[in-house]
Amino acid sequence: MATVGVILASVREGRRGEAFAHWLLELAGSHAGLEAELLDLRDWPLPSYSYAVRGVEAEKHYPADSLQARWAASIRRCDGFAIVSPEYNRGYPGQLKTALDSLYQAWNYKPVAFLTYGGIAAGSRAAEQLAQVTRELKLVPLRDEVNLSLGGLAVDERGFPSGELYRKKAQTLLGELAFWVDLLKSGREGLQR
Ligand SMILES: Cc1cc2nc3c(=O)[nH]c(=O)nc-3n(C[C@H](O)[C@H](O)[C@H](O)COP(=O)(O)O)c2cc1C
Repeated sequence: MATVGVILASVREGRRGEAFAHWLLELAGSHAGLEAELLDLRDWPLPSYSYAVRGVEAEKHYPADSLQARWAASIRRCDGFAIVSPEYNRGYPGQLKTALDSLYQAWNYKPVAFLTYGGIAAGSRAAEQLAQVTRELKLVPLRDEVNLSLGGLAVDERGFPSGELYRKKAQTLLGELAFWVDLLKSGREGLQR
């Protein structure tokens, strides 16, 4: 069984992202061999990067049982990620950057999918920035994305997108993620030999 971490980037009161993350978690449940778990950044109020060491060395310097060490352990446990992020000022929220910057090796050689949302651009500018930044962490950003346009978005009583097109796009995204999770999992096992 492979584990996918669904990272919920918005920590805002009344956030739309919470429903979208739960929608993805539910859809991921129908993919054989995938186990999805929620990584809600509200539960991970990581401090800005303020350490003397370079980012690639940070992981081994965190005191045992610190929030950062526990964040590293949570990310290490995962074989891939789906980031659920809004667009804030044409980018993604700062707390997500801090969560990414806090680690290095734990991210390496794992796939990452993006579900973004926002106004007319549907969060696609945040997704573009995320693709650039995650490459530097040796994550493998997927070509497929889900970009939800909030203006007039049809949702059900749980706030889940109810349109068939978005459901299909999310299933495609998860299918691609499952493919890369498998491929890179065996690649990482090869590295450890
Ligand atoms: C600080 C801030 C900046 C925003 N900037 C943008 C933007 O540049 N582009 C956009 O499409 N939406 C923008 N929005 C609208 C958000 O995408 C929308 O409010 C969304 O629901 C936020 O996600 P959340 O509800 O999960 O926090 C912004 C919202 C906030 C709070």
